[in-house]
Amino acid sequence: MIAQHFVSLSGLFAAALFIFGLKRMASPVTALSGIMTAGAGMIVAVIASFLVLFELDGTVRSHLTTNLGLAIAALLAGGGWAWWRGARVEMTAMPQMVALYNGMGGGAAAAIAAVELSGGRASGTLLLAVTIIGALIGSISLTGSFIAWAKLDSRIKKPWRFSGQRLVNGLIFLATLLVGLGVILLYGSPADTVLAVLFFVGALAFGVLMTLPIGGADMPVVISLYNAFTGLAVGLEGFALQNPALMIAGMVVGSAGTLLTLLMAKAMNRSLANVLFSNFGDTTASGGAEVHGQMKSADAADAAVNMRYASSVIIIPGYGLAVAQAQQKLYEFVKILLAAGVEVKFAIHPVAGRMPGHMNVLLAEAGVPYDIIFDMDDINADFPNTDVALVIGANDVVNPAARTDKSSPIYGMPILDADKAHQVYVVKRGQGKGYSGVENLLFFEDNCSMVYGDAQAVLSQMVQSVKDLAAAA
Ligand code: TAP
Repeated sequence: MIAQHFVSLSGLFAAALFIFGLKRMASPVTALSGIMTAGAGMIVAVIASFLVLFELDGTVRSHLTTNLGLAIAALLAGGGWAWWRGARVEMTAMPQMVALYNGMGGGAAAAIAAVELSGGRASGTLLLAVTIIGALIGSISLTGSFIAWAKLDSRIKKPWRFSGQRLVNGLIFLATLLVGLGVILLYGSPADTVLAVLFFVGALAFGVLMTLPIGGADMPVVISLYNAFTGLAVGLEGFALQNPALMIAGMVVGSAGTLLTLLMAKAMNRSLANVLFSNFGDTTASGGAEVHGQMKSADAADAAVNMRYASSVIIIPGYGLAVAQAQQKLYEFVKILLAAGVEVKFAIHPVAGRMPGHMNVLLAEAGVPYDIIFDMDDINADFPNTDVALVIGANDVVNPAARTDKSSPIYGMPILDADKAHQVYVVKRGQGKGYSGVENLLFFEDNCSMVYGDAQAVLSQMVQSVKDLAAAA
């Protein structure tokens, strides 16, 4: 009895830590401690799960007496592997890693359901229904997240589409639902192996089929959606196991994932249905305004000297900065400009890079002070009064086609108004398109010059040029 109260209370305590941690993650200043706090909540939840007592069908059991060795082995293997991989993962590979771990959460929820069903423990209509819905959502999240991982990791390079695909997917989903809810719940036995296998195969296949046609550019949103699915599945299985820590943790993850998904879709001015069912991000997608004018190139040294003598510069970082890992060099350049009396600000687009907060994390890593970093809505009005906009490794988030070209797949996405600055320099390696695969009209504007090269190399040249200038003065 005491142990049960302890478990219930620790669930509440873990939830408080999760919510407090999430709140702290809202700002880059407190994000690290937020992650630590939420991690502590997870440790509490894991300990509580060890002590949890089952009281389904009247029996009382504790994990302390059953499967303790297996549980510890699983914890050591999973925790050890995640620790090892987490310490080594490249910043640019972070979304893939999140997708992978997220999928495993869904898989764990589905595995719990499978054990509950096969052991015949989930008895009673409500418990069966909850277990089955959790299994369905968890299985979809498992295979869907694996496909998302493969796409982000360039192991699957193209969306897989065929005519009538939505109908086929819909039928598979309905059939799975029918087997799961209709047959098992109403007519069959929960321990019926054939039905259970059919149900799981259908759910796992649906996760694959639902994700394959979605374009690579939308994978971060899809991962966030599966994150919400995983949370929901874990919460439902927590209910089936009567484990408050799992229930609360699952619901917190589910609601945070849902909010993040909707916020990302909103930042791109698209509906979730459009993300899931349109062909966005397909490099073969048509659309794109007629391009007028020509791209002009500029020397890194000339661009740097112009910025040194400008009175205001706004820097727009994008995915390419992360690829080049040039954030330290960039800040070195910024410090020289600031010391010379130039007003420098950073403009962050909500979906710049490949994951939410990607640019904030990069800049924080380099030590850029938060008071010169501005969100899109707070800085867009400044561009017309700014001497130079320096776009580094960003593309879609500054493409004016989003404002003007109704045929463009990014039409309607709010963008940073870099084109309104007096002079724009764009640092990128070549003619590569943005993640949406469309031409960027900014690059052809009269006030825009391209500084070709890897961001790290270009910034090194820029730093050297302004240093040489100072030495010569
Ligand atoms: P992108 O549009 O992907 O453009 C990145 C640019 O960086 C490319 O044009 C590339 O051109 C350049 N680049 C790559 N490596 C470089 C290097 N080493 N040095 C210099 N430049 C390099 O990036 P963005 O503007 O940040 O936009 C993000 C995109 O991801 C948007 O379409 C957004 O909708 C999508 N997305 C993001 C999220 C989140 S949460 N961030 C979620 C969903 C979708 P070159 O190849 O010519 O160098």
